[in-house]
Amino acid sequence: MAVIIKDTGEGHISLSLNATGLSKELLLLRAEHGRLVAAKNSLQQDYNQARGDRSILQAQINREKAQQDRMLSQIKTLEEQQKEQALRVSRLELSCNRCPSEWEVEKDTCYYFPTPARVQRKGWNDAKADCITRGAQLVVIDTLEKQKFIAGVVRTRHSEGFNYISGYWIGLSEQEEGWHWITGSLITTGYWMPGEPNDYGVGAEDCAATYPKVDPLQTWNDAPCSYPLMWICEKNATSLAGSS
Ligand code: BGC
Ligand code: CA
Repeated sequence: MAVIIKDTGEGHISLSLNATGLSKELLLLRAEHGRLVAAKNSLQQDYNQARGDRSILQAQINREKAQQDRMLSQIKTLEEQQKEQALRVSRLELSCNRCPSEWEVEKDTCYYFPTPARVQRKGWNDAKADCITRGAQLVVIDTLEKQKFIAGVVRTRHSEGFNYISGYWIGLSEQEEGWHWITGSLITTGYWMPGEPNDYGVGAEDCAATYPKVDPLQTWNDAPCSYPLMWICEKNATSLAGSS
């Protein structure tokens, strides 16, 4: 007890201080204060450490999130590629064994496009005879779809561009009645280049060829039948495997 209060019984109160007790208490309080300050500092340190850890973790989360986004987009790309591959496989399965090797199949028809680097150009009659030896005939382009397909193939094979020997004979020639297919029917629609057919020059231009032109609907030219060009044969594809 640091402070002693006594009633003397004579109307006075005596008050005495126990200085030793007070100084002890002060020491205790100081020690307690010191401990509290140390505890506070240590907590402050822990707190700072935790804040530091938290921002490191946050940065890590952000990195992992970005990585996850990259992987998700890779998965998407791979899924798209897989779909394309599956389509290619089913197209290949459909065309498998339906045409001689190196012929192209489109719908139910096989097409032969000789390669200029490997095959000599021929006049229209020799080209026609070549198709016959292959069990085929010079191509008859009597639908828009067929014209677009053939124009596309000719153009991709002749990416170096157009000139008058880059043509492919088709099964179309001119006689008195006009332009007709080798099947005998007269043409209804012609996909001539602008200004063609023009029967150019001294010799008559009585045979038709298709050329690598940008507009797939304007690719034909009439040329002299003896002109050496490439040519296109066609024949029916064998029926689909498994179908009757
Ligand atoms: C003409 C064509 C023709 C060709 C024959 C060109 O200059 O424009 O119409 O068929 O020559 O080589
Ligand atoms: Ca011409």
